[in-house]
Order: sequence, then C-alpha cells, then structure tokens
Amino acid sequence: SFTYNISNLQMKIISHKKKLKKFILGERNLGFVPTMGAIHKGHLSLIKKSIAQCNKTIVSIFVNKPQFNRINDYKKYPRVLKKDISLLKKIGVHYLFLPSHNQIYPDGINKRIKVHPFSKKLCGKYRPHHFESVVDVVDRFIKLIHPKKIYFGEKDMQQLKIIEDFIKKNHSYVKVVACKTIREKNGIALSSRNFLLSFDERMIASKIYKILRMRKNNLIKKSIYITDIKKKIFTLGVNKIDYIEILDINKLIKPYKNKVIYKVFIAYFLGSTRLIDNI
Ligand code: PAF
Repeated sequence: SFTYNISNLQMKIISHKKKLKKFILGERNLGFVPTMGAIHKGHLSLIKKSIAQCNKTIVSIFVNKPQFNRINDYKKYPRVLKKDISLLKKIGVHYLFLPSHNQIYPDGINKRIKVHPFSKKLCGKYRPHHFESVVDVVDRFIKLIHPKKIYFGEKDMQQLKIIEDFIKKNHSYVKVVACKTIREKNGIALSSRNFLLSFDERMIASKIYKILRMRKNNLIKKSIYITDIKKKIFTLGVNKIDYIEILDINKLIKPYKNKVIYKVFIAYFLGSTRLIDNI
C-alpha cells in the first residue's frame, strides 16, 4: 500500500535566528531536544518522547565549541550531518535548528553565568568551565525557542542535574524531561563518542560496564574498594581514569529527595576518547 507520513517530508531545516522565530512563532507546545549531532538511539529515544508529549518537536545540532576543554576533542567530535538529517526526517521531527557559531554567540560567551556548585565535582574537576558553557548554550537556546519541554539523557546525569537546577531558577515555565540511558546489548551506554572507538575499545568499555554493574552493591557496602576496581580496570587497557565515585542521585542538588538511589559514576579514557557513565 502507498502510505506517506506527511510529517516526514516536512522537516524544516533552519540556520538563522530570524527564520527560526518566524517558523515557531505561535507554537504553544514545543518540545526541544538539544544535541551536538551524531544522532544515535539515545537521542532518538528523547526525540520519540518529545514527539509523543508535544505538538511539535524541534531538534538542534550544534557542536558547542566553548564546552570543549581539549581542542582535539572538539576537532574529532563526530560530524555526520547528512545521516543525522535523514534519521531526524524519518522519525518525524518538525524543525531542525542548525545555527552557526556566530548566530549563537554574536557577542561572545556569557562569562557571568551562574551554575550550581555541583558543577565543580566529578567532570567539573577535570573539565574546568565545561558546565558553565553547557548551561550558557542551553540558556541561549531556551531564549530563542521558548520550548514547553526540554529533553536530556540520564547518561549525562551531572549535566542533567545542573541544567535542571538552572532552568528551575531561570526559566521556570520550561519542564525538564529526563530520559533513561539507552545501552547496547553489551552494556555500553550510547554516546556520540562511541563512534570514535575501535572494536577492541568497545570490548573494553563493555567489560567495564559489567564490572561496575556486578560490583556495585559491594562498592556501596564497601566490601570492595574503589581502588581495587580501578586496578582491575587499568589491567583491561584503560590509560586513564578521571574518577569513580558512588553518589546518591537524590542528594546531588537541593531539594533532596528521601529515596536513596546510588549510582556509580565513572569517567575514563580509551585512547584519546573520554567516556562517562553512571550505573
Ligand atoms: O549533551 C549534549 O549533547 C550537550 O552538552 C548539549 C546539552 C547539547 C549542549 O551543547
């Protein structure tokens, strides 16, 4: 039979702020999924949720240079725009915003952005100003798009919590929707940076996931120590571990929740690719 999903054919691709305003003027129930591209099933789960919950869905692809603290990480970040566009069209996204650096930062970055001090912990220790830059760009997007809902993955739990706090304080009409981490069958959390991994590196990442998963309860009970787990991970061929920490995700940023949910947070390097997860 000959069926066409009209929405597939109608994704508007917009790269100028003025055009963006024209197109979305009057949209009262917009769902927004900010991304840096290299769209994978993790992104698609956020987008599907937005399409289900909102009248229209807008996705942005913008590799936000200020949030990268290593220039090579920025340069090597996977860029596969053609493939991204076809995936987004197929899933039924209404608007794709593809701005240039100058469209977003006509007067440079905002050096006075205030983010929660949790931004100094975990990744913040190793990536100075990273979270300020993430929040700066999200703030700019919200001011341009005025979404009703904005979607983030729990894989980047620290980012999610910091953005949630900022939005509550500065754009309280926007609802932050958190989406579960999507994993490959072998356990690896989906991430655009996975495109940079070799076959062997993927095997190692999978083993690390399994070790942390298996040992999580022992780590919480302190019947094994983090230093022992680190030793084991180094023997797999990891050249650097930024941190492994166990934290209750309901006590990261106030208001705290009573329910205790421990997660093992990890950041480590495979070659020059830095991976994070929380399990
Ligand atoms: O999670 C990401 O891809 C980025 O940090 C975000 C939220 C799109 C901001 O650049």
